Amino acid sequence: MNNVTIAGIGAYVPSLVVTNEKISEFVDTNNDWIVERTGITERRISEGENTSDISIEAAKIALERAGVKAEDLDLIIVATISPDMFIPSVACIMQSKLNAGKAACFDISVACSGFLYGLEIANSMMKSMNYKNALVVGAEVLSKVMDWSDRGTCILFGDGGGAAVLKNEPSDSKGIIKSYLRSDGAKGEALTIGAADFNTPFTKEPQLKDRIIKMNGREVFKFATNAIVESVNEILKDTGVSLDEIKYIVPHQANYRIIKSAANKLGIDEERWYLNLDRFGNTSAGSVPIVLNEMYEKNLINKGDKFILVAFGGGLTYAATLVEW
Ligand code: UT7
Repeated sequence: MNNVTIAGIGAYVPSLVVTNEKISEFVDTNNDWIVERTGITERRISEGENTSDISIEAAKIALERAGVKAEDLDLIIVATISPDMFIPSVACIMQSKLNAGKAACFDISVACSGFLYGLEIANSMMKSMNYKNALVVGAEVLSKVMDWSDRGTCILFGDGGGAAVLKNEPSDSKGIIKSYLRSDGAKGEALTIGAADFNTPFTKEPQLKDRIIKMNGREVFKFATNAIVESVNEILKDTGVSLDEIKYIVPHQANYRIIKSAANKLGIDEERWYLNLDRFGNTSAGSVPIVLNEMYEKNLINKGDKFILVAFGGGLTYAATLVEW
C-alpha cells in the first residue's frame, strides 16, 4: 500500500551568530533576562540571504538524502511569512533555481504552524493527485520585518529554514499518519505583520501599515500552552496511539517556558521534547524542520520511530502531526 513518508530532511541557517550580549548593545535587555524568560542564548541572522536562498540550500540537502532529483518533484510548498516578494512565490523561485520544471508551486501563510500545514496539504495532494515526490519547506528571514528597537520581540526570533522531501510509494513506514490543524482568527491581533499600504487615488482614508512584527507576548504565551496541550491530546485520541509509542515530541521552538508548561500539563517528561531554541531562537515556520534535521544528524531518528510534531503561531494557528519515520 502507498504511504506518504518523509524520505529526506535538510536545513540551512545563515552563518552570522547574534548573541544575547550583542542584542543588549542596542536594546535595554540582558543575557540573564533572555535566558531565564525564553531559554534563548543566540540566534542566526541573515546578512543578505533571502528566504528563497535559505530554502534552496535546505532543499538541496533534503533532495540528496532522499535520492530524489529536483526535476522529479511534482509539488513544492513553502511555508513562510517572510517571502522574498509577493510574487513570484518562494516556491516558484525555488522551482526556477532548482530546475524542478514539472512541479506545482505555491507558498502558504500559516506563520509558525506553516510547516505542519504544508506537510498535510502535500500529503493530501499527493494522494488525490497521485503525485510521487513533493518538497515541503518552512523558512523565514524574519529579521527583515523585525522592530530592532522592540525588546519584546527582537530577542526572540531568528532566521533559517528546513525542507522535507516526501515520497508517495509502497512503504513499511506509515509516514504521515494524522494531522490536527486548527486556527483562532479572533485572536489574530495578538501577533501581526502589516503588508502593503492602502493608499490609492480612490481610498477615502489611507491606511499605512507597520511592516514589522507586533506581538502581545503574554496573550500568545497563554494561547500557545493550551494549543500544544489540545493538539497533542487530540492526535493521541484520534489515532489511539499511546504516549509510550512516541519517541519524541518535536515542538515549535518559541520559548522554553511554554514547552515546560505544556509538558507539565500533559505529564510528558521534558527529556522527550527535543529543544534547540537556545541556539536558533524562534525561526517561525523554519523551527520544526530545523529540529528534525538536527535530530536526523544526531542519529536520533530511526526507521519506525514515531514523533508528534506540534506548532502554534500567528493567525493565530496551531497544529500537530503524528509521523512515523
Ligand atoms: O511563534 C509564536 C510567537 N511568539 C511567542 O511564542 C511568544 C510568546 N510569549 C513569550 O515568549 C513571552 O511573553 C515573552 C518572552 C515575549 C515575554 O516574556 P514575559 O515573561 O511574558 O514578560 P512580560 O511581557 O510579562 O514582561 C515582564 C517584564 C516587563 O517589565 P515590567 O512591566 O514588569 O517592569 C517588560 O517590560 O519584562 C520586561 N521585558 C524585558 N526586560 C528585559 C520585556 N522584554 C524584556 C527584555 N529584556 N527583552
